Amino acid sequence: MANFNFIQMADPQVGMFDRFSGMDPEAAALLREHGLNVKDTPKSEGLKLDRLNLTTAVEQIKKIDPAFVVVCGDMVDTAGDENEIALIRETLGAYGAETPVHWVPGNHDIGVNNLIPDSESTAKYRSEFGDDYYSFSHGESKFIILNSVVLDRPQNLLDEHQNQMDFLGDTLQSRESKDSEHVVAFMHHPLFLDNAEEADVDFDWAPSPPNQPSGYWTIPLERRTPVVKLLREAKVETVFAGHWHRNHQASDNGLDVVVTSALGYPLGDDPSGYRIVTVADGALNHEYREL
Ligand SMILES: [Fe+2]
Repeated sequence: MANFNFIQMADPQVGMFDRFSGMDPEAAALLREHGLNVKDTPKSEGLKLDRLNLTTAVEQIKKIDPAFVVVCGDMVDTAGDENEIALIRETLGAYGAETPVHWVPGNHDIGVNNLIPDSESTAKYRSEFGDDYYSFSHGESKFIILNSVVLDRPQNLLDEHQNQMDFLGDTLQSRESKDSEHVVAFMHHPLFLDNAEEADVDFDWAPSPPNQPSGYWTIPLERRTPVVKLLREAKVETVFAGHWHRNHQASDNGLDVVVTSALGYPLGDDPSGYRIVTVADGALNHEYREL
């Protein structure tokens, strides 16, 4: 059995420190009422803090020397912002020249107004980061990247949504997947935060941000259920995600949703960081590492 490790991270969301630092006290208090732990820090304009986190992460990851890195979405705060994308390219993108870096689309990368993707925003994402859903193999395991933004809000991309569901079904049913030691999926949105059948309502401990629809943090039940069915049929054990900017794990009958805090601005008590995943002797284990 091949033993190796890889890095999973989420939400570098370059530009968020500028938007969230030095926030007006009333706006910050409203966000805190919605469970978002906005700190009263002085204004940090520009991308200085994003750059510090990204360069620190790349230095640390080089020492770990993983087989690959998966960035689970929200690479930038503002889709299409050239400065924000340039910083991602200079740091994680440059590291990708020596070790594969796999991008996963987040709502801030591909959603119009950070929420609903359309054909134009999807084409732009693909030109910047490559395919929005695909699979790859390493060792004796199979890894599947999904576009959860279209699972969340498919109304402008119904064909794309169906294509991705067909891709997921075909990939999971392939001989290669069936013969794999592990099949692991990655997406930006957590599939669920408590259990696979939870309704599209907010939990007291996970309210949606102000001005966002209820159930903002997860995939709606209607589109979650068929994904969970396919994953269960293929005995997928772990789905890694981000979006929540906090660490969290939910397990339902052998299906684990592992939510990793932000490499960028955290919204809970967990500091900025990334996750080291180890595949060894038939087991998959993971731990969060603070920057
Ligand atoms: Fe997000």
